[in-house]
Amino acid sequence: MNDKQLYLIAKENLDKAYAPFSNFKVGAALLTKDGKVFTGVNVENSSYGATICAERTACVKAVSEGYRDFEKIAIVSSGGEAFPCGICRQFLYEFADDLIVITGKNENELVTYRLNELLPEGFKI
Ligand code: THU
Repeated sequence: MNDKQLYLIAKENLDKAYAPFSNFKVGAALLTKDGKVFTGVNVENSSYGATICAERTACVKAVSEGYRDFEKIAIVSSGGEAFPCGICRQFLYEFADDLIVITGKNENELVTYRLNELLPEGFKI
């Protein structure tokens, strides 16, 4: 699966985001090393701190289904190019410090990074 295809899967799922408080919808699509895709959206809560980001939703779905080896993640938002927040960077780093992170304004202007560029010296026990 190429970067654009993964980005488009994240985009297709954007409408499932539950973001009544920020009105900022985020969609993520996480590709495992064996080719399976897990999607995620942000799910907000009246108790704002209980909100979960799209990237962590996708990661938790994958890990809880027995998948821990990840190749890349695409992130789309309703507000333009979106990078993973600090908590999500650390959360993903646990499983894939060299994960490819794909974002961009649209599917024709993608930008890619390695997670360890976005989170140098991430924490690991
Ligand atoms: N959000 C994500 O889903 N992913 C990020 O990496 C950054 C922020 C969500 C959380 C919240 O629902 C909304 O975007 C505004 O912060």
